[in-house]
Amino acid sequence: MNEEQKAVLSAFERMQQATAEVYSPNLAGIGHNELIVGKALKGIRENVVIATKLMPSRMSAFGGSLYKTVKEHLTASLDRLQTDYVDIYYLHRTNGVSVEKIADAMGRLIDEGLIRGWGLSQVDVDVIDRAQKITPVTAIQNIYSMVERDSEDRIIPYCMEHDIGFVPFSPIASGLLSGKITAQTQFEKNDDVRNWVPQLSKANIEGNQPIVDLLKNFAEKKNATPAQISLAWMLHKYPNVVPIPGSKNKERIVENLNASAVELTEEEFGDLENALNSLKVYGHRGLGGF
Ligand SMILES: NC(=O)c1ccc[n+]([C@@H]2O[C@H](COP(=O)([O-])OP(=O)(O)OC[C@H]3O[C@@H](n4cnc5c(N)ncnc54)[C@H](OP(=O)(O)O)[C@@H]3O)[C@@H](O)[C@H]2O)c1
Repeated sequence: MNEEQKAVLSAFERMQQATAEVYSPNLAGIGHNELIVGKALKGIRENVVIATKLMPSRMSAFGGSLYKTVKEHLTASLDRLQTDYVDIYYLHRTNGVSVEKIADAMGRLIDEGLIRGWGLSQVDVDVIDRAQKITPVTAIQNIYSMVERDSEDRIIPYCMEHDIGFVPFSPIASGLLSGKITAQTQFEKNDDVRNWVPQLSKANIEGNQPIVDLLKNFAEKKNATPAQISLAWMLHKYPNVVPIPGSKNKERIVENLNASAVELTEEEFGDLENALNSLKVYGHRGLGGF
């Protein structure tokens, strides 16, 4: 392993990456991204945490044996990922699935050594609590960023109390908090969720500019980038938070990983938090969002 790989892997302790069986162009196929991840991590698998997700709408039969269906999906993911276990196996959405039955199935897969832990995505405390009572939950993957803070009230505190990791997705608000998006930015016509992210409509980009300016000011003072400050803020705020910023660009991936080296003092964090609390957020995806 070279020095760059070592640095990236050490930053991964607080910054993971996760895939899903449905991550394919336009979310239309199955397994496209898992195949890429499997190829990329071949040979270094034991050094990384691999998480993938299973989507209920792609499951054929939940009537007979949910456990059997989940295992079939998992086995297909393991083949694509070129591994014999995943570290965290998430249910991507809970729609139409009994949380208790899923928790039971996940417990069996843990006992069989096929998964090390399991999690849920876009869920509130009542669902987590029902699952937790059957098979202790490893991680919750919900939307969370400086402009999506619903999970702060009850979910993150519940996770802290029960030793559950909290994995924020879209942690830089789909790029908004990097400060590189303006009301003039054109997104790809196809297969680009930024066309649907409420904070990224022209009017809301303008409305959210004070939050971006706040990050830019902090970034200048800390010799960091706005995206890094937004990640450093959540890493400082909670010990159990492990964000998963997404990027197709190597420089930005390394930039985001290096956010774990940006340390905020208590005073800096307090100033950032107070300023943020005083600003209105334009646009909201929330837990019911895609
Ligand atoms: N559980 C779920 O239901 C769910 C839902 C959505 C997403 N996720 C997961 O969460 C991960 C991240 O979420 P996300 O991709 O929606 O949002 P995000 O991480 O907040 O933002 C990603 C977007 O920001 C840009 N970006 C990233 N870092 C940047 C930087 N340093 N400077 C400028 N632009 C930057 C990326 O563009 P470039 O590619 O051009 O860098 C990309 O368009 C995804 O990879 C996915 O695994 C999970």
